[in-house]
Amino acid sequence: MNSKEIRNKFIAFYNQRNHKTIPSVSLIPENDSTLLFVNSGMFPLVPYLRGEKHPLGNRLVNYQRSFRTDDIDDVGDNRHTTFFEMLGNWSLGDYFKEEQLNWWYSFLIEEIGLDPNRLYQTVYLGSDSIPKDNESIKILKSIYSKYGVEAYEGPEVINQEIDFTKFKIFAYKDNNWWQRGDTVGELGGTDSETFYDTGKDHNSAFGEFCHPNCNCGRFIEIGNSVFMQYIKTLDGWQELKNKNVDFGGGLERLTMVSSDMGSIFETDLFFPIISKIEDLSGKKYSDDIKSFEIVADHIKASCFILGDVRGVQPSNKQQGYFVRRLIRRAIVYGGKLGIESFGSDLAKEVVNIYKEYYPELVNNYDLIVSEIVKEEEKFRKTLNRGLKEFNKIESGIVSGKLAFDLYQTYGFPIEITKELAQEKGKKVDLDDFNLEMNKHKGLSQTASAGMFKGGLADSSESTTRLHTATHILLYSLRNILGDSVVQKGSNITKERLRFDFSFTRKPTEEELKRIENMVNEIIADDLEVIKENMPLAEALNSGALSFFGEKYPSVVSVYSIGKISKEICLGPHVKRTSELGKFKIIKEESSGEGVRRIKAVLG
Ligand code: ALA
Repeated sequence: MNSKEIRNKFIAFYNQRNHKTIPSVSLIPENDSTLLFVNSGMFPLVPYLRGEKHPLGNRLVNYQRSFRTDDIDDVGDNRHTTFFEMLGNWSLGDYFKEEQLNWWYSFLIEEIGLDPNRLYQTVYLGSDSIPKDNESIKILKSIYSKYGVEAYEGPEVINQEIDFTKFKIFAYKDNNWWQRGDTVGELGGTDSETFYDTGKDHNSAFGEFCHPNCNCGRFIEIGNSVFMQYIKTLDGWQELKNKNVDFGGGLERLTMVSSDMGSIFETDLFFPIISKIEDLSGKKYSDDIKSFEIVADHIKASCFILGDVRGVQPSNKQQGYFVRRLIRRAIVYGGKLGIESFGSDLAKEVVNIYKEYYPELVNNYDLIVSEIVKEEEKFRKTLNRGLKEFNKIESGIVSGKLAFDLYQTYGFPIEITKELAQEKGKKVDLDDFNLEMNKHKGLSQTASAGMFKGGLADSSESTTRLHTATHILLYSLRNILGDSVVQKGSNITKERLRFDFSFTRKPTEEELKRIENMVNEIIADDLEVIKENMPLAEALNSGALSFFGEKYPSVVSVYSIGKISKEICLGPHVKRTSELGKFKIIKEESSGEGVRRIKAVLG
């Protein structure tokens, strides 16, 4: 089966079971300062998993574009990518383990035809405070038996050769607990992962005995049912009011196993790109699997980030730095294949694969190509000279000064220098590099490793207050500067809000003062903040502001502040504006062509 059939079957299967389809949201999170990219389908659903009512009900399904920065170093092993699509279904306090596991197995076996003998399942082993998931084990045994397989639970400690014809269910601890982040208010739960046996031989470099969580590549994870029923409090994990299901499965991997292929790069979601690289390079995919996969994955991911409705361009900061890193790394690996200037040819293939599901890639095609080509040209000017400098190093340590020079003068992202060093058995002096970096004025905001890791939006009181302030600010901006002002982006931390909006000139001091005063007057008016759910068309007709280009579900939440501001929004917000305190603009600056940026705080 190809990806289209699997995608459509998954959505239809859950639609038939009363799940409403929600859209795939932008890859760039709104209002979320702690995670750079949407990395799973549950991302925009957090308020609902916490207990808010979703306007479409308590059963949802979708495919969500996702990007996992942490997986960048694993690309090249036949099953990892940075960009992928996650098929997801959710129960918001409705059904739980019994339906979830039964439906999922029914989908795999009856809809896409997987052999139940090749499916393996892991469950939570238990900890001091949370019991072992015996309930799932019992449900799974009966599911296997329904499909004619007598399934037993494997040993908890893997210290022997496993009889995989008999043992199908395995309990683990760390691998079977899923949580978003570690702060109070975060959600978590035990999870149950499904693995498919590719039938490959075990590679003992990964451990003496194989088992589902072994990384040798024999077993490939194809789905994860998280039983999201806990919230982190100061006293540890406490039960949520609702028992939720948060399921996610990779479309690329499901497509791969449904056709018993050896790699996700052989599926229709990748092969046209791989073939194009074969044409351009005159080499075969099998000649250098890793370089082919890195080039294909990174250019695809770059197309999605550049062409997103909140698209970002290559830069030295945050998401922009990541696109830069992806394109430049693709160029380095393309170099190993002997190809140059391949970005636009490959972008064409990417758009072709996804045009039916992601029309913004078609609309933004020219922009995608021009940004990739610009970045290619920029890096090419310095790449070879930089490599020459790098190859001169004789010692086993790449000094911080040289790594910084490669970064600053030759445009080598530090991760690329680290990788080149590793290939030659050298180490980079990172502490020294960071010192050099900090010395360099204005460049302190680069990619520290932590910046690209997990952790997600919080709904603490201070971010909620700043979020409501953002709505009042947009209203005031439009009031003072005119209706041409639309929101271009928003980013909120506990300390401040940052708001980007369209406007072609710098607002005057006087205008900024009037905007600030207006926000403070609205706060003092103690207006009520009201949330209503309504069909999208009705929301748009009522004049509620929406984010241009975003796809919304057919029923949405609209937040109104008194009679003034009305926006389609996920929340959360304060109840009354008087909760906000004093609003102060601390900075106003340009944020690109025709876009201004305001930073503000609440005192
Ligand atoms: N949120 C779960 C995951 O990302 C389904 O694995």
